[in-house]
Amino acid sequence: MAEIQKGKSPFYPGQPVPGELFVGRASQIERIMTRGVGQVAAGKPVAIFIQGEYGIGKSSIAGFVQWMAEREHGLLGLYAPLGGAATLDDVAAAILKATVQAGAYNPNISEKIRGFLGKYIGEQSFFGVRIHAEALKKDAPTLASPADLLPFFRETLGRTKDAGIKGIFLVLDEINGITANAQFAHFIKGLVDTNAMSKEPVPLLLMLCGVEDRRYEMIQKHQPIDRIFDVLQIEAMSQAEMEEFFSKAFESVQMKIDNEAMKFLTHYSAGFPKIMHLLGDAAYWIDKNGTVDTDDAQSAILISAEEVGKKYVDQQVFNALRSAEYRSILAKIAKMGPVNMNFIKNDVAKGLTEPEKKKFNNFLQKMKRLNVIRSGDIQGEYIFNIRMVRFYIWLQASKLESGKSGMETA
Ligand SMILES: Nc1ncnc2c1ncn2[C@@H]1O[C@H](COP(=O)(O)OP(=O)(O)OP(=O)(O)O)[C@@H](O)[C@H]1O
Ligand SMILES: [Mg+2]
Repeated sequence: MAEIQKGKSPFYPGQPVPGELFVGRASQIERIMTRGVGQVAAGKPVAIFIQGEYGIGKSSIAGFVQWMAEREHGLLGLYAPLGGAATLDDVAAAILKATVQAGAYNPNISEKIRGFLGKYIGEQSFFGVRIHAEALKKDAPTLASPADLLPFFRETLGRTKDAGIKGIFLVLDEINGITANAQFAHFIKGLVDTNAMSKEPVPLLLMLCGVEDRRYEMIQKHQPIDRIFDVLQIEAMSQAEMEEFFSKAFESVQMKIDNEAMKFLTHYSAGFPKIMHLLGDAAYWIDKNGTVDTDDAQSAILISAEEVGKKYVDQQVFNALRSAEYRSILAKIAKMGPVNMNFIKNDVAKGLTEPEKKKFNNFLQKMKRLNVIRSGDIQGEYIFNIRMVRFYIWLQASKLESGKSGMETA
C-alpha cells in the first residue's frame, strides 16, 4: 500500500489537550459546571481545588471547563500558571498578565480589555497579544494583596459587562513552587474571605490545580485554608474513556485502529492520559497504511519505553534500571502493573529465583538510595516515588517480554 502523508499528529504528550480531543471526566465536569460555574454566574463566589497526580489531566480539565464557562456562561477566563512564581508579586504579575490576555476568543471582549489595560500590551504582534513585561512587572506589586486584587477584578468586570461578562474564572495552575511560601496560603484565604465579606462580592470562581501534597503544604502553612476549597480528585481514566480517546484521536486524522491494537494501547496506558498521548503519538508515526494494527501498537510501546526513560527518568536511575543485574527483578515487579505504586517485599521475593533473591536486598537499598522507592507504613512495604519511573519499568519489562514470547494484554 502507498505510504500515506503524515499531517499534524493529534497527540499532545506535553500539553493540555485541545478541546476537540478532550474525553471523559463527565462527572467532574458536571460538578464544576453546576457547583462552580453555575453558582458564580449567579453571583456567588466559589473556590475549587483540582487535585491529582502529575500528568493526570488537571490543567486539561481546568482549560476545558474554563472554555465552556467563557462561551456559555459569560465568565471571563484568566489562566495564570505560577510555575516560576516565588513571591506574591510574582503571583500578581501572573494574574495581571492573564487578565491582559483574557477574552482573546471574542474581539468584543479583547477590545474592552485593551482599552483598559493597553499599557501592558507591547507593540502589536501578528500572533496576538504581546506583553509589555517591564510595565507589567512594575505595576504587579500594587495587586499583590486581596484588598487590591478584588477592586481590580471589579473594575475588569465593569469594563467587560457590556460584552456579556458576568464573572471571573481564575485558574492558578502549576502551584508547586509557590505553596512553600506561607504568604501564598494567607493570600488565597484572604482573597476568599475578603470577597465573601464584602458588600458586593466579586463573582469569582477561583480554581487551583495541584498535587495533593501541595494542598497539604498550604494547610500546614495556614490551617484554615482547609475549609475554603471544594476538592475535586482527578483519577486515572476508565477503559471506556481511553477507548473513546484513541478512536477520536485517530479518527480526527482519518486513521483507524483495530481491536487488538486498541487492547494494547489501553492496557499499557493504564488510564494515564500522558501515556495515552505518548503511545498514541508513537503509533501515529509508525503506522504506514492508515490503520493502527497490533504490530504498530507493539512497536509504539517499545519506542515509548525508551522515550519515557530518556525524558522522565533521571540518568542515574535510568542506568541502574537498565543494568543487567537488576533487570529480571524489575521485570517481576513490573508485572504487578503500573497502577500499583507499592509492593510488599515478600510478595515479590516469592516469585524470584535463588540468584535473584540473593541480589534482592541490595537492589532495594540501591533503589531507595536513588529515590526510586521509599519504605511504606506497613512492614516490608515499598512505594514508588515517581509515577513515570513506575511506568518506565512497566514498559521496559514489556520489551523484555516481547523479546521472549510476545506481549500480553489484559
Ligand atoms: N480529558 C483528557 N482527554 C484527553 N487527553 C487528556 C485529557 N486530560 C489530559 N490529557 C492529556 O494528558 C496529558 C497530561 O495532561 P495535563 O497536562 O492536563 O495534566 P496535569 O495533571 O495538569 O499535569 P501536571 O501535573 O504535569 O501539571 C497531556 O498530554 C494532555 O494532553
Ligand atoms: Mg498541569
